[in-house]
Amino acid sequence: MELTVSSHNEIMPFMEFGGEPGEEKAFANNELKDYSVRVEYHVSKLVDAIHGKGPGEINIAKLIDNFAFDTMADLAFAQDTGTQEDTSITNHMEFLHSHISKITFISHLRNVCQLLKYMPVSHKEARDFQKRCAAMLRRRISLGNSRKDIFSHLLSASPKFTPKELDANANVIIVAGSDTTSSTLAQALRGIAADRKEKSKIGEKSILSKLQAEVDAICDNGGDLNVETVKSANYLNAMVNEALRLYNPAPSGIQAYTPPQGLEFAGITIPGNVEVRIPHFTLFMDERYFPSGQKFIPERWTGEKPELLTEYSRKAYIPFGYGAHSCVGKQLALNEMRIVLARIVREFDVSFGESYDEETFENEWKDYGVLQVGAVWLKFSPRSV
Ligand code: HEM
Repeated sequence: MELTVSSHNEIMPFMEFGGEPGEEKAFANNELKDYSVRVEYHVSKLVDAIHGKGPGEINIAKLIDNFAFDTMADLAFAQDTGTQEDTSITNHMEFLHSHISKITFISHLRNVCQLLKYMPVSHKEARDFQKRCAAMLRRRISLGNSRKDIFSHLLSASPKFTPKELDANANVIIVAGSDTTSSTLAQALRGIAADRKEKSKIGEKSILSKLQAEVDAICDNGGDLNVETVKSANYLNAMVNEALRLYNPAPSGIQAYTPPQGLEFAGITIPGNVEVRIPHFTLFMDERYFPSGQKFIPERWTGEKPELLTEYSRKAYIPFGYGAHSCVGKQLALNEMRIVLARIVREFDVSFGESYDEETFENEWKDYGVLQVGAVWLKFSPRSV
């Protein structure tokens, strides 16, 4: 089956995406090593922020939003936005959520959307969002090439990106680089709390205790918890895989175009140049690919429960997209998610807070192309390790 991924500007008239060469270099292995130190710095701040909140319940979705935004701003734009320390003058993530919810709504009204492209004035949130992205980009350009970050590659790419392409890249990286890891992590922690509650009733070992055993073993063997030391932690990776499957930040998936000659599969014919979507949510819960697909079971990926994968699972598992336009930030995102979870479970036991309510959570869960979760009220009790 051959599909061409549509460019972002066909879907979102206010966002365009430029060339890729600088992007790929920006996410190469050597660069990721440089970014790891920065990621670890922001994770420490997150852990400090959780400690700082004391024994009461915390809306962890908000703290992780702040972590994700600061990390993205640092790695992409070499800027300290200070949201984790409350020194930021504006709440970037709330603004971003508001923008995304509106733009997604408009972009689904296809005809209106196409007309908007030709109008000189777009809607206010989009303009404000673009202004913020442009301001971050301007500040980044003024810093020159003193520090390696994602934009140091885009700014020195050859052939050069045009100013419009740089703007477009800034827009995409701000959204793709923060909201995605953030909602996945918040939901993963919620999943850990839910599993702990359930397992305590039936007297089984919880996901939390298995994760803790694994990260404790890394520390007991003299290792620091950092991006490198947790990279091959088997259960942690399984946890992240399962979070990306069941809590994917792009539930409605990715749009793509059929090739000009059309496409035929499973007895269905789709004409050429038709936009189709591959909805992650549906795909990842389809029992043909993921038996017991609605259940959060990391053991699916550890080899302990081979019956929970089928011959199609690996092909169907595309949380970062597929092909030439798949997520350039994949390794960075995996690094971030692993180290955040490892550091949190090393330091804390996680459980639901008093205000957590499943129904409210589900009502606030919104798929705007990029997922937005509402408040996730959890308790973090320091462990004596
Ligand atoms: C849980 C984390 C993440 C998930 C699940 C995710 C998933 C995706 C998906 C599904 C796509 C679309 C691929 C396609 O069009 O076929 C994408 C694109 C992209 N992602 Fe991610 N992403 C994540 C984190 C990140 C991070 C941390 C960054 C960068 C800092 C990033 C940067 C990008 C960029 C720049 C694109 C556009 C690539 C292109 O069109 O060539 N993503 N991502």
